[in-house]
Amino acid sequence: MQERIKEIQEKAVELISRATSPEALNEARVKFLGKKGELTAILKGMKDVDPELRPKVGAWVNEARQQLEKKIDSAGKSMEAEILKQRLAAEKIDVTLPGKAPAHGHLHPNEIALREVERIFTGLGYEVVTGPEVEYDEYNFEKLNIPKGHPARDEQDTFYINDNIVLRTQTSSVQAHVMEKGQLPIRIISPGRVFRSDAVDATHSPSFHQIEGLLIDEKSSFSDLKGTLEVFAKELFGENTKTKFRPHHFPFTEPSAEMDVSCFKCGGKGCRFCKGEGWIEILGCGMVHPHVLEMCGLDTEKYSGFAFGVGLERIALLKYEIDDMRLLYENDLRFLKQF
Ligand code: DAH
Repeated sequence: MQERIKEIQEKAVELISRATSPEALNEARVKFLGKKGELTAILKGMKDVDPELRPKVGAWVNEARQQLEKKIDSAGKSMEAEILKQRLAAEKIDVTLPGKAPAHGHLHPNEIALREVERIFTGLGYEVVTGPEVEYDEYNFEKLNIPKGHPARDEQDTFYINDNIVLRTQTSSVQAHVMEKGQLPIRIISPGRVFRSDAVDATHSPSFHQIEGLLIDEKSSFSDLKGTLEVFAKELFGENTKTKFRPHHFPFTEPSAEMDVSCFKCGGKGCRFCKGEGWIEILGCGMVHPHVLEMCGLDTEKYSGFAFGVGLERIALLKYEIDDMRLLYENDLRFLKQF
């Protein structure tokens, strides 16, 4: 019997020493020490052993068990140590390597231009307000002196939601909202998205942005309008910029004008950029029509004011010398990264 136990023990030691993974080690444990293992089988067969020999056989088996357990444990420990060593080597981090900087986003040229315009007007004491993009016909047209059937409606190809609701064609729609509140004086700019049923080309898009300006006070004149917009132009395009006001017509201002700025590329001599003109058209403006003030419940004896409307894309295109408006919307990173 002692021989048999020794044989089993030697077989087990052999198997343990050949085990190269925790799984193989566990298999050896089960094979010899498990419930159905070979050593356990001897204990289970004790009833067939001569009663006098039984204590001895028990002791031999236990001794063999203990020795095998020790061997399995130490083999397991060195195996774990080896695995850990390999993992540490594989996952080694060189803390002295330079870090990877997270990619930074940056502002879209439209947004840069908008912030610049907002900076200039808030510096002059204007407040930035917004209005709805889906607008009543009443605010987009009627209260701006553009009743149904007025020819000025044809200039702005309108997306109609229904007979009374449109996608606003101009940020001028915010004017009446602000005036109706009756908190005077008013000094606001209102940037936002506008919509017109135009086909896409280098200078047109069905959706673009405008910035509306409105000032209403007890004393305000066309020279205030000119002075304000001159400051704006110089801040935006440089100290040497000159301005020129040409008579124009808008239904909601009287008198109305368009403002040109001297070409900031050639200084007014005429170049490719300004198409040889020396001047670049930049915005529409005028004194708010008394009828518009009346429709918003303002006392025209006491109050007057001026308004202006600038195309945001136009400013971005000019300032950054971009020759195609589509570039602003296509989100080509190679283009956008330049700003
Ligand atoms: N809303 C006009 C347009 O889209 C621009 C404009 C012109 C706005 C004159 C004004 C203004 O407030 O006084 O063409």
